[in-house]
Amino acid sequence: MVQKTYRIAVVPGDGIGMEVTPEAIKVLDRVAELSGGAFGFSYTSFPWGSHYYLETGTVMDEGGLETLRSFDAILFGATGWPTVPDHVSLYGFRLVVCKGFDLFASVRPVRLFRGIHSPLRNGTPETIDWIMVRENSEGEYSGIGGRNLGSRGDGKELAIESALFTAEGCERIIRYAFEIAATRPRKHVTSVTKSNAQQYGMTLWDDCFARIRAEFPEIGADQVLVDACAARMVLHPESFDVVVASNLFGDILSDLGGAIGGSLGIAASGNIDPLRRNPSMFEPVHGSAPDIAGQGIANPIATIWSAAMMLEHLGESAAANQIMNAIERATASGMVTRDLGGSATTADAGDAILHALEGNDG
Ligand code: NAI
Ligand code: MG
Repeated sequence: MVQKTYRIAVVPGDGIGMEVTPEAIKVLDRVAELSGGAFGFSYTSFPWGSHYYLETGTVMDEGGLETLRSFDAILFGATGWPTVPDHVSLYGFRLVVCKGFDLFASVRPVRLFRGIHSPLRNGTPETIDWIMVRENSEGEYSGIGGRNLGSRGDGKELAIESALFTAEGCERIIRYAFEIAATRPRKHVTSVTKSNAQQYGMTLWDDCFARIRAEFPEIGADQVLVDACAARMVLHPESFDVVVASNLFGDILSDLGGAIGGSLGIAASGNIDPLRRNPSMFEPVHGSAPDIAGQGIANPIATIWSAAMMLEHLGESAAANQIMNAIERATASGMVTRDLGGSATTADAGDAILHALEGNDG
């Protein structure tokens, strides 16, 4: 008899999304078994994504958002396929969910696991350990703009892409970053902008940062421009604890973080509603990787780590820690996929984590 059953919506999506999501479910099922009936999962899978679009003309069913609303959380792989324009697959699912449910915080931890070599010469588990908090509801991905295709003639098209910054939007993401920093030993927040060149939205962000940091006098804080931040992540990774950035900058810097942590195939994320009004959505940072899809060689760690973040969000911290310890044991054992220098298949790498769960009491 299971005491608590979490209802999980699963959207594997396209490409390697379909290969890595089952590995995460395998691991979730095992920690549920190991909980001895304290909790379990019921999954409902949805076929949405680019392939669904090619068959049906829609990336996600009409009313899909309402269907998802009743779940406790969403586990997502990735959408995108070369025969469908990327903005169609992205705006058709991920952005519909993040905006529709106001999942305003994209939380993307960066860590170097034992056994994995960072491309940074001096990278160690001690120097590479930060959390990227990416604004996820407005900014550069507001979707405001337009393209004039018709009247001006060939070579004279114009396009406007507007970024939207609101004081409410900036304050809530910055406050959430400080709240996360308060739970970490280093207790430091770095704000990333480009206020020298983007003088309206980004200076509003800076003003909000100044107000919120005053609410948290016990937390250290600094500010850096995004270009300098990219260099600092490479040269001084140890100088970061929690990094808060706009939608675009957080997107770019989290791929850099993933690479610094050894591979994009490791980088995990949660699209979180800190106010818990709607289900949060957990997904690897990477996309559908058509270049390696169908070969069974994708790294499942990013998705398994994302599933651990989901457990943490659901209040199952002990089980989340069990998974994190198992990931680290598996990476230390060398049973890893090609992107990390190993030769394991996706399923082998998932099995190594399952194996490492045994006898691991978190
Ligand atoms: P990508 O993240 O799919 O791949 C970039 C590179 O990293 C590729 O060489 C790929 O093989 C490698 N890689 C990614 N994940 C890996 C894993 N788990 N194991 C081993 N290697 C891995 O980014 P790309 O190529 O720019 O985009 C491919 C498609 O994914 C596009 O259609 C894009 O729009 C979509 N995409 C979707 C996202 C989402 O649904 N949240 C996020 C990013 C991209
Ligand atoms: Mg991205």
